[in-house]
Amino acid sequence: MASSTLNLCCTIEGASVEQQTAMDLLGKQFLLPDERLAAITKEFRRRMEEGLAADGKVLKMIPSFVTWRPKGNETGSYFAIDLGGTNLRVLKVTLNGKGGVTTEHQKFTLTQEAKSRTLFDFIAQCVETFLDDRNLRPTGRQPPISIGFTFSYPVQQTSINSGILVQWTKGLNVPGCVGRDVVRLLQDALLRLGLRVKVAALVNDTVGTLLSAAYNDPSSQIGIIFGTGTNAAYYENVSNVAKWKGANPASGEMVLNMEWGAFDSDDFAFLPYTPHDIKLDRKSINPRKQAYEKMISGLYLGEVARNIILWLADQRLLFDGRSSEILNAMWSIDTSYLSSAAIDNTPDLSEIQQIIEKTLNVPTSTMVDRRIFKTIAVLVGERAARLSAVGVVATLTKRLELLSKKINIGIDGSMYEHFPGFKEILAETVSHFIPEDKFKNINFSLAKDGSGIGAAIVAMLATQTQ
Ligand code: BGC
Repeated sequence: MASSTLNLCCTIEGASVEQQTAMDLLGKQFLLPDERLAAITKEFRRRMEEGLAADGKVLKMIPSFVTWRPKGNETGSYFAIDLGGTNLRVLKVTLNGKGGVTTEHQKFTLTQEAKSRTLFDFIAQCVETFLDDRNLRPTGRQPPISIGFTFSYPVQQTSINSGILVQWTKGLNVPGCVGRDVVRLLQDALLRLGLRVKVAALVNDTVGTLLSAAYNDPSSQIGIIFGTGTNAAYYENVSNVAKWKGANPASGEMVLNMEWGAFDSDDFAFLPYTPHDIKLDRKSINPRKQAYEKMISGLYLGEVARNIILWLADQRLLFDGRSSEILNAMWSIDTSYLSSAAIDNTPDLSEIQQIIEKTLNVPTSTMVDRRIFKTIAVLVGERAARLSAVGVVATLTKRLELLSKKINIGIDGSMYEHFPGFKEILAETVSHFIPEDKFKNINFSLAKDGSGIGAAIVAMLATQTQ
């Protein structure tokens, strides 16, 4: 859907005065003018500087120990583990030179047992299955396999292949891991299985995304995830990182994992919180954490919409005041329903009718109900895309000097790839804040599956430079 559709105003054909008043209020809360975004961006930049100066700040700006760039002509096969929120992938990545990559991967769904107790043993078993199924398990006489480990949670990195988990995000909450070195936990689990596999690199998914984009396009400077969660990584001059006490790398630069999903989580002062966001935050497993992420990423947007829907239904402004057991349950609206609703252009909004009446089990819906549902989806999506631009603009203006020539931003994640209008609104909003002659040098590219591929690339670079 083009951005013009997402920019529709909140006038609902056929709505009662009360319904329209409520929708106008939502419009005021969710449609953020550029001036508001500018103020948030200014604060975001200040928080970036704060995070570069010292540890323990709201934007963690974590040194990743990745100080190299791939040339794009590297060849060979490398392995990676990519741990997301619900799935785990084990990959064999073959670099073909000239930026070309082929992957062979196997996807595993995290079991309840893994999520609540045995995560690292589960990961090790998946690696074993992957290697055994393909007859790749190294024997006693062969050198161990080096593997890159994409771990998409905030880790205070202590070397290229070690780091302490700061906290869980995105709904995962395995006890006994916070404060521990996640590579040690994995390496021990691999050892328990007698697998000759060495974790050579620990990589955030944004760092992986950036490195995989850089393998294809040397002008890549920023890697971003707009998916279940959100975050970004970028190449920074080490001389700008006052808190860095390690040796100066030969390249003079290092990728920083910003952990930008936490923006504003300390004082809740700058983001445009509505009662619907506050309700979500309060009931989440990590209240007062990941404030920015909760407004822009896929795990949360459906729930923000559900809170709005119930607020309207409870005032008898939607579904004639009715709900359903499903709709009453937290998280019952998946963000993909909002995607489908936002692009439903059928005359009777039949896709939305299906979602309301079949998926959510609300007995009936009028055309006005469906129009309201669509507008909610659009408002929540548009706010997410415009707020996403804040992080992009703040990062770009931090390295403004780079914009005198072409730069590539590698982006992955379901919101960027699938949410209707998200990409377009993101780019358009960024263009409002970056001078035209510089904006034309920016290329936004989809770095599909970059997190896993990038981890294999980092494992390769780390092994080569040892
Ligand atoms: C995590 C980040 C990760 C992002 C995207 C956030 O919840 O804290 O480490 O990069 O999600 O997956």
